[in-house]
Amino acid sequence: MPPSEFIHRYIPPQNEDTAILLLLHGTGGNEDDLLGLGEALLPGAARLSPRGRVLENGMPRYFRRLSEGVFDLEDVRRRSAELVRFVSDASAHYQFNPQRVVAVGYSNGANIAASLLLLHPGVLAAAVLFHSMVPILPDDPPALTGVPVFMGSGRNDPIIRPEQSEELEQLLVKYGAAVTHHWESGGHGLSRLEIQAAAEWLRDRRSEWT
Ligand code: MLT
Repeated sequence: MPPSEFIHRYIPPQNEDTAILLLLHGTGGNEDDLLGLGEALLPGAARLSPRGRVLENGMPRYFRRLSEGVFDLEDVRRRSAELVRFVSDASAHYQFNPQRVVAVGYSNGANIAASLLLLHPGVLAAAVLFHSMVPILPDDPPALTGVPVFMGSGRNDPIIRPEQSEELEQLLVKYGAAVTHHWESGGHGLSRLEIQAAAEWLRDRRSEWT
């Protein structure tokens, strides 16, 4: 049975020894949005791209929010657990190694990826978080020692302000993650330079998940 909870795309790898990119779109996006980004970041990697199951005025998201930047924490917990189950079902169905899952998230997708790191350490081998903030504070300290995390942030991002991204960086570092934080001068949009920086970062760490 294919993993059915999430509408999704799965693109098999072109080379068996590679990461599985878990692509997580921003608010209002869908399962097709980040397929090209995933291929640009790590050519030939498998891509698993679920559509967020929460609708906000018709726009898919990965968890409910009460207002911009104010999250429904119960929903963050519940949806994070749902996504963990989906990844596990998908690994059985598509037969990929669950130890090699690298999240690539943008905005709301980066926030649910951060939530997976904080609430379900061990699920992600690494994460690329574009324009993200602290989604939830974990009750128990997550074991993130050495987990590679790339963060891309904008100094003039009006939706995820620089201090909110810095707060996430500090939290991940506190729990042991190896964070590389790349800054651009722009706003909330993804810039070509931050994509390039993330691609280089992934290339340099390839041996860690192959
Ligand atoms: C969120 O809701 O996760 C963040 O505010 C980013 C977004 O607008 O999606």
